[in-house]
Amino acid sequence: MFYIAGTGSALPEKVVSNDDLAEFLDTSDEWIYTRTGIRRRHVLTHERLDDLAIASAKTAMADAGVAGADIDLVLCATMRGDTITPSLACTVAEAVGSHAPAFDLNAACVGVLYCMEIADSFIATGKAETVLIVSAEAMSKLLDWTDRASCVLFGDGAGAMVVKKGAGRLAGVLCSDPDTRAIRMPNIEGMNSPYNKIAQEPLAMHMDGGEVYKFAVNAMGHRIEEVCAKAGLAPGEIDWYLPHQANVRIIDASLKKFKIEKSKVLLNISECGNMSATSVMVLLDEYAKKGTFKPGDKLLFVAFGGGLTSGAVIVEWRKN
Ligand code: UT7
Repeated sequence: MFYIAGTGSALPEKVVSNDDLAEFLDTSDEWIYTRTGIRRRHVLTHERLDDLAIASAKTAMADAGVAGADIDLVLCATMRGDTITPSLACTVAEAVGSHAPAFDLNAACVGVLYCMEIADSFIATGKAETVLIVSAEAMSKLLDWTDRASCVLFGDGAGAMVVKKGAGRLAGVLCSDPDTRAIRMPNIEGMNSPYNKIAQEPLAMHMDGGEVYKFAVNAMGHRIEEVCAKAGLAPGEIDWYLPHQANVRIIDASLKKFKIEKSKVLLNISECGNMSATSVMVLLDEYAKKGTFKPGDKLLFVAFGGGLTSGAVIVEWRKN
């Protein structure tokens, strides 16, 4: 019920290499690259996440040729914006001159796919014709920088797409396999409430890498099978795979059984690391701007993340 009419992205200026991390962590470029495929990542220093989200939204809107008044819904996939309220979506809406309903959605790394499916429902039920989807993640502010097993994996960034009513989306599947310990990032407990009796859990992200790895390979494989079946396509008929960029080994392992040509699987993990929900957005924008996609090409987005969540969406490309 929708097609992708415009894309945008914005990354922090500062690039941190694996060697930079090895200056203060017991790690190496060799370990990180061979285990994950990551060489470097962008990290917030002087920028606000809000500003990156707004910049990416404005680029996507210019690309789609839409103004703030044309937008019927603003959705933002993020685990934590700069402010709890206003939502990041409201901050973006103000900056782009939109008065449409605006809200944030947290489905961890699968957030953009959840937003695409919500946009599809709004459009299918006549509540919207043009939807602005933004994703922005400040992973560097959620990590324990003394935990080498997790902090080396992530990067910061923002991305956006404008979707419009019309033929394009072919199918989507969303899932959760709830597991509240595999990836856990506690919120601030109680602030200074004199009534709060609950102790503060350590604030940084904790992750059971091995468990998440196994879940990811299975979940991505299953979601691909399900979404292709819904669209009436074989995995080999997909022109471009845009998988969540968590670990190149996870991507390879989950796609192995489909015998997909490597050139159809798009990657930017070596340059950006895992930017949570934002990864597939930045990937989409990068390859759209390179002119990789041709009208009629079938793009398959697939992701997994904290929750644990997973999903896949197939969209036929329409733009030139
Ligand atoms: O968006 C979702 C986010 N989550 C994920 O994507 C995580 C999925 N999991 C993974 O990607 C992988 O499990 C990791 C990359 C996290 C780890 O790779 P692995 O091949 O499963 O390594 P491992 O956990 O088995 O660790 C092997 C060794 C351990 O040492 P010992 O116990 O064997 O002596 C770790 O302590 O590597 C050690 N290690 C490191 N060494 C150097 C862990 N992190 C590092 C590091 N540098 N950064």
